[in-house]
Amino acid sequence: MKRIGVLVSGGGTNLQAIIDAQHSGIIKSGEVVTVVSNKKGVYALERAKQNGIEGVVIEKKAFATPEDFDEALTAHMKSRNVDLIVMAGFLCIAGDKLLEAYPDRIINIHPSLIPSFCGPGFYGLKVHEAALNYGVKVSGATVHYVNKVVDGGRIIAQKAVYVQDGDTPEILQKRIMEEAEWKILPEAVEKICSSLK
Ligand code: GRF
Repeated sequence: MKRIGVLVSGGGTNLQAIIDAQHSGIIKSGEVVTVVSNKKGVYALERAKQNGIEGVVIEKKAFATPEDFDEALTAHMKSRNVDLIVMAGFLCIAGDKLLEAYPDRIINIHPSLIPSFCGPGFYGLKVHEAALNYGVKVSGATVHYVNKVVDGGRIIAQKAVYVQDGDTPEILQKRIMEEAEWKILPEAVEKICSSLK
């Protein structure tokens, strides 16, 4: 059973999808052992608590430098013997120490079909605003490995979602979360956990 550490910053619906997938048997080769939020009081921490999973807050502003924050995240994951790190709505960039400690062992869910609408500044509703402003007919979600380049790592899975007339960024975000993110992320987690040595 591989040990999964989940990094969150907000509502935690992708964390919930992973937890639900463990309970339904979609994820059977891994288990979430720790949830780390960079913000206090986010609902993702409540979701962890409701499921008997450790939830901790490691805030960037509590550290003198970004490197110290990076070191704290890395030390925490190592202390929990985490095998795979999942960024699920996490709004910080992975630092060098975390990347070095977890090569090809950190994945992220991005709410567009990379390489469209991704990279610095493309997060949350901004992604869907850009897609609607461009007028794309299809968007979706991508699970990818995390490397030094924001949203630049190898793609693991993608799922397309049709844009519909009258979509607002909020409506499109909800559809992409429900129809794409919450499906491909748990499937990717199981695929990776079942293949890890
Ligand atoms: C989602 O749109 C996800 O794609 C992005 O962050 C948003 C919130 O995710 N990475 P969650 O509800 O906190 O999992």
